[in-house]
Amino acid sequence: MSQATNQSWGGRFSEPTDAFVARFTASVNFDQRLAPQDIQGSIAHATMLARVGVLTDDERDSIINGLKEIQGEIERGEFNWSVPLEDVHMNIEARLTEKIGITGKKLHTGRSRNDQVATDIRLFLRDEIDVIEVELKRLREGMIELADREAETIMPGFTHLQTAQPVTFGHHILAWQEMLARDHERLLDCRKRVNVLPLGAAALAGTTYPIDRHVTAELLGFDRPTENSLDAVSDRDFAIEFTSFASILLMHLSRMSEELVLWTSAQFDFIDLPDRFCTGSSIMPQKKNPDVPELVRGKTGRVYGHLMSLLTLMKSQPLAYNKDNQEDKEPLFDAVDTVRDCLKAFADMVPAIEPKKASMYEAARRGFSTATDLADYLVRKGVAFRDAHEIVGQSVAYGLKTEKDLSEMRLDELKQFSVTIEQDVFEVLTLEGSVAARNHIGGTAPNQVRAAAQRAREALSAFKAGA
Ligand code: ARG
Repeated sequence: MSQATNQSWGGRFSEPTDAFVARFTASVNFDQRLAPQDIQGSIAHATMLARVGVLTDDERDSIINGLKEIQGEIERGEFNWSVPLEDVHMNIEARLTEKIGITGKKLHTGRSRNDQVATDIRLFLRDEIDVIEVELKRLREGMIELADREAETIMPGFTHLQTAQPVTFGHHILAWQEMLARDHERLLDCRKRVNVLPLGAAALAGTTYPIDRHVTAELLGFDRPTENSLDAVSDRDFAIEFTSFASILLMHLSRMSEELVLWTSAQFDFIDLPDRFCTGSSIMPQKKNPDVPELVRGKTGRVYGHLMSLLTLMKSQPLAYNKDNQEDKEPLFDAVDTVRDCLKAFADMVPAIEPKKASMYEAARRGFSTATDLADYLVRKGVAFRDAHEIVGQSVAYGLKTEKDLSEMRLDELKQFSVTIEQDVFEVLTLEGSVAARNHIGGTAPNQVRAAAQRAREALSAFKAGA
């Protein structure tokens, strides 16, 4: 047999694989990342085979010891990855046979690389989901505490990016937190469908050996074996589901990033980000750039790209396994890495946001942000809303001309537009009065923000218990 022909399947071949084809079809350069899961899966498989009598206990022990040594070689960087051996699975199996002889070849009894790779990816993704979840919780906690601290801090709320009504900064941060709470639910929901064992499906139809898939599932911490062998080896919708979670999460982080970038600008001047999250410019000495949020915003694009890659990869694939599926790994790996890093960046950065309260307050004061409060005041005094809208519009026009906010006008100035206006109008024209008046669940009043932060805290710890 020629060296270039893979020893695992070379039996029926009469010439070696073309060197380019060997390189083109190999996945070892990227799927070696799955080595820990591949070994973990093989140990469970060998354990199960011994339990049902397909392997002797001695064979099992020799396989497990050999695999553990290989794990050490890989961790120490001593493992010699071979492209002619195609992928992580055959590299490890070939090394096992090299180390323990003929018994190494028995490990593959009752399985195929098709169910093996599906198992490896699911193990990998499940463990990464758990790491990602820790970062997501940390970020949510940071937001809840920031919101609680800033429950009374006033800023302008926007629609169309124009000053609309005053809100509290804590309320704004809790809006972010709500987005992440839904992402968190999506992640844990996705985990349920990831955590199912394909091993035992073998190439596509199952195996003639008396395997016990419940044993393997339990050894690997899977909730249950998959129901259908054809589906088990071909399905990658769990990876699509994860990347759609990732895309929605990154979409949310990109929105927060955009606001952080705007807020740190001299024009907004709403917050400061500590220097450790920023970099300077090599030409403009005065610059302090919000690189971290900018980069998170930018990384959203690659995650959307991975979602499109995986959706398109699976489109129209006939059952069961097709080599196309080898292309699932790089998008998934990069989506996982990007999500983890972006969440870590945000979880570190959010608690360090320093609101510039005076500047936010001034911005809210400048934009006639209590105009709706004046209209509501008139309605309470019996004026029809349409008329109130007109009266307030005229007051704002006057304010623009005289460069005065509504709260800075004298009573006689306001009375030009409606005689209904009395001294008590000033209670609603202040920013504090405006936010305090929105005093219901979901409203921006400081006591509502504190109560919402407390509910969010409780919901988050319930997540911890249920995860
Ligand atoms: N490297 C392959 C993959 O990632 C493993 C499964 C290959 N199976 C096969 N019959 N060629 O999908």
